[in-house]
Amino acid sequence: MGVHVAEKQQLPVADTGAGPDTRGYLDYLLTNRNFTAPAVAAAVASITPEISGRPLRVLDAGTGAGGALPELIALVRAAGGPGGTVVAVDVDERAVEVAGRQLGDLNLGAAPVDLRVADLRDVAAGAVTSGERFDLIWSSDVVWPTTFDNPAEVVQTLAGALVPGGTLALFTTNYYQSMLLPGHSRLERLIRTASELTWGLPGDGPTHYERLGAWLRAAGLADVAVRAFPLAGMASEPAARAFLEQIVWPEMRHAVASHGRAAGMSETDIVRAGELLDPEGPAWVGDDPHTYVVQPTLLWTGRTPVA
Ligand SMILES: C[S@@+](CC[C@H](N)C(=O)[O-])C[C@H]1O[C@@H](n2cnc3c(N)ncnc32)[C@H](O)[C@@H]1O
Repeated sequence: MGVHVAEKQQLPVADTGAGPDTRGYLDYLLTNRNFTAPAVAAAVASITPEISGRPLRVLDAGTGAGGALPELIALVRAAGGPGGTVVAVDVDERAVEVAGRQLGDLNLGAAPVDLRVADLRDVAAGAVTSGERFDLIWSSDVVWPTTFDNPAEVVQTLAGALVPGGTLALFTTNYYQSMLLPGHSRLERLIRTASELTWGLPGDGPTHYERLGAWLRAAGLADVAVRAFPLAGMASEPAARAFLEQIVWPEMRHAVASHGRAAGMSETDIVRAGELLDPEGPAWVGDDPHTYVVQPTLLWTGRTPVA
């Protein structure tokens, strides 16, 4: 019996093949929002709408927990005039509830926000029909291959809902180019691949998540540009710690278990990843005082040509 157990322990453990673990989706929205807030603020501040002399119409397409709303509201207020508004939509009712609560907590007074549950494609189509197009459309971590079969088409739809000279701003936290396990670069790359497989993301091709600029161009937008707004933090800093402990490390553990082998991890790699990511173990990265995180967030922008 003892021999049998020992033999069994040495057998390779198969990938579970499970898809992404989305049970903590609402916590993810808030934790991610807190960590990325400085980059979001800087990215929105870098956008200068071409439109002047009239109130701004802004769409936050896929607002989630409303992380960009304070800055987008500030933009509308700065433009001045009655009638300026931020239309903030999300297809998920729970996200809209959380965004509403966040707005309440921020005490922004009578903020010019129209927050509602809606599909961003319907809102874009409605703007075309009604003629109430947007001066700026902001969309952060939404246009993504697993969310939409044809992300380029979604970008085209959003671009079509802009006024001439309007700006489409696609922000990405650039998760898969982040430093999430510094000092363990080989393992980090393997785990990233395992995570991409878990989420069913393409590794290449026209729907790859790094093609935001190509989609903006294909939508006929001009002045397509990219800027980086990097975030960095020691794991001892509360926002970085929460991001690593509540999002990144659990996601890594899940990815290793579900697609580690398919990503090319050996038995030794899987054991080592397990040690580094085990909060109860002596090698836990969370106990390393030098652990840190870097996230090179990106803002892609394009403008509709003015005739
Ligand atoms: C990764 S979250 C990002 C949320 C937020 N923009 C942020 O940066 O924190 C993606 C959000 O897009 C929303 N979403 C996905 N498809 C959508 C659609 N067709 N219309 C509106 N929202 C959508 C999801 O419900 C989710 O809240």
